[in-house]
Amino acid sequence: MRVLVVHGPNLNLLGTREPEVYGTTTLAEIDQMLAELGNELGASVETFQSNHEGAIIDRIQRKDFDALLINPAAYTHTSVAIADAISAVGIPAVEVHLSNVFAREPFRHRSFIAPIAKGSICGFGKESYALGLRALLAK
Ligand code: DQA
Repeated sequence: MRVLVVHGPNLNLLGTREPEVYGTTTLAEIDQMLAELGNELGASVETFQSNHEGAIIDRIQRKDFDALLINPAAYTHTSVAIADAISAVGIPAVEVHLSNVFAREPFRHRSFIAPIAKGSICGFGKESYALGLRALLAK
């Protein structure tokens, strides 16, 4: 089982970016945690971060993975194109967010990804990713 983890824009700044909202864990630490958890669960985990919508779409279109764990970050709320790319490849996807987007500004309550995802997990900080990976790999 090959899992692709996609992190959207500004998530490269985790650790220093609004720590009161996103915590102090860095993206490298999250990626390490996911690699270890994947190993434990018998899956290979590749991670990819980009600040560019087209780069995220190009990566998804490579279709070289069996399951997708994605934190689309701000593109969650704007990107028909990323949602279309996920639908186009037809590979199961789980959407995750560090923060509880529903407890934040109204513009964060809308997700273009949620309707085409298997499910969504938000509000548990870095644990959202771990829960999402477990959900993707659940038999
Ligand atoms: C986020 C929530 C989004 O609203 C925001 O734009 C992000 C991060 C999260 O993980 O909580 O960049 O996806």
